[in-house]
Amino acid sequence: MTMARETIPMFSVGVQFSKIPDADTLNAELKDEIARIRGAVPNSLPEGWSCHVYTTIRSDLNLFERPVFKKLGGLIMTEAAAFASSYGLDFERYPLRINECWVNVYGQGDAQDVHLHRNSVISGIYYVAAPPNCGELLFHSPMSEVMLDPPITHGNIFNVLIRNVVPSTGTMVLFRSWLRHSVKPTKGKEERISVAFNLTM
Ligand SMILES: [Fe+2]
Repeated sequence: MTMARETIPMFSVGVQFSKIPDADTLNAELKDEIARIRGAVPNSLPEGWSCHVYTTIRSDLNLFERPVFKKLGGLIMTEAAAFASSYGLDFERYPLRINECWVNVYGQGDAQDVHLHRNSVISGIYYVAAPPNCGELLFHSPMSEVMLDPPITHGNIFNVLIRNVVPSTGTMVLFRSWLRHSVKPTKGKEERISVAFNLTM
């Protein structure tokens, strides 16, 4: 006699990957602008962070005053709307808006601790430069802190605790702000440059 048996996934965490078309021109302009910013704006790395990275987070800088970031802002809004649709978010009645946007530049050995983005609905990262051997982005399962971690025979969707993402130049990654993530150390000598942002409704 065959027993009818099925294990059904009950919840799911979606992450959107958008390959921006013709990103080379945009990235060249962003790189120039970010070089100018680095020359003028000191690293605002918060004291509580134990990692190293050049960042403009929580500085007074309004990146969208700069035309190239305005262009990127348009792409962020388009992609965020698509992602919000996947999650069934009612952004027609409660419009999405970018409430934070900052630059991160990782040199050799630079990394970022596990964190999430509070007071936001959607967060994202756009890779301006993701050279070979730059730090991978890790997503940490929301279950990783509440479940026992017994030995496993094989990995699958029910027991995976960390998902690795190899950054790709010209790609925008969007995720819910509660999803914890981190950045592994960059091994190569070339800089890894990203623009991070938060949206609220
Ligand atoms: Fe982050």
